[in-house]
Amino acid sequence: MYTAAEDRYGKMLYRRAGESGLEMPVFTLGFWHNFGESGDYEEMRRMVYTAFDNGVTSFDLANNYGPPGGEAERNFGRILKDGLSSYRDEIIISTKAGYPMWPGPYGKGGGKKYLVSSLDQSLKRMGLDYVDVFYHHCPDPDTPMDETADALAYIVQSGRALYIALSKYDAKGVAQMTELLSHYHVHPVLNQVRYSILDRAFDRDNLFVNLNRLGVGSAIFSPLAQGLLTDKYISGEVPVNSRAHENVYLKESVITAGLIARLEELRKIASARGQSLSQMALSFVLAQRSVSTVLIGARNTEQLMENLRTLETDIRISDDEMREILSYA
Ligand SMILES: NC(=O)c1ccc[n+]([C@@H]2O[C@H](COP(=O)([O-])OP(=O)(O)OC[C@H]3O[C@@H](n4cnc5c(N)ncnc54)[C@H](OP(=O)(O)O)[C@@H]3O)[C@@H](O)[C@H]2O)c1
Repeated sequence: MYTAAEDRYGKMLYRRAGESGLEMPVFTLGFWHNFGESGDYEEMRRMVYTAFDNGVTSFDLANNYGPPGGEAERNFGRILKDGLSSYRDEIIISTKAGYPMWPGPYGKGGGKKYLVSSLDQSLKRMGLDYVDVFYHHCPDPDTPMDETADALAYIVQSGRALYIALSKYDAKGVAQMTELLSHYHVHPVLNQVRYSILDRAFDRDNLFVNLNRLGVGSAIFSPLAQGLLTDKYISGEVPVNSRAHENVYLKESVITAGLIARLEELRKIASARGQSLSQMALSFVLAQRSVSTVLIGARNTEQLMENLRTLETDIRISDDEMREILSYA
């Protein structure tokens, strides 16, 4: 039987999700990759227990994570059953729906029928009565926003989720959804966005400032640019066990001599700060306004621990360091 480390809460920092009462660990374990059918179950379980032993109380899933879709939730359900469920009241479980999940018109988007039935399927796969956070995974331009808001509010009112969150919404979309949900006395707690030293597209939208104004926190995904912001590719070689080698979500072609030269400079800055490149990349994201939690994906426990050890270093970034980092971004 699993017994969690007693000192776990002393190892983590917690931040509020926007203006809500929900406190999130600054690092959440993400299940997009490495929790599918071809993964090693023992390693998955080790990662989850290691995360929780280090104060990571938040686990980020989605209906379509696997592969195949649904498999990450199934594996997480198994880990809960194997022992983690005795800590159910100490953990935040999130799932999402929005991307295509099953054939036909009711298996995707932002309509009420899809969102409610998808969450029911997710609950069944994980063996849960409720999730803590339910996300609309991506905006759906084909469904009226007030229907999506109605579905999200219903999900909370029916007890299927405690909190509602958004993903990949721009500042205008978050503002509109926040307004629509206010009619139901529901406030979105988070918006999930991709952000890293190498990908700051949302800065153009002034997203973080706007989220802050709306009282919505942000959950950052791909903070390591899917592994680019680590030592992994600096030699110019693409290791077999890597996302770039899989060449699906991270294309090998992005690893150019120009990128490697920038990564080398960034690594020098990190080293002067007493951090690895990945630890500086995580500190960079944590320095942004309104960031409540940073979602980290890891292939194994060693990667996870290197990332969590960021909190053993000084995560503050001075203005001069920030300017220097951005000059290679
Ligand atoms: N809302 C959305 O639409 C959305 C989209 C994407 C992701 N997400 C969420 O965000 C989570 C994180 O996204 P992500 O996986 O792209 O994040 P990421 O942290 O940028 O990338 C994770 C990958 O980086 C590599 N890595 C991590 N730590 C490392 C280390 N210390 N040393 C060397 N390599 C390391 C591993 O790649 P290798 O596998 O190559 O070893 C790992 O799989 C996902 O799991 C998911 O929960 C949400």
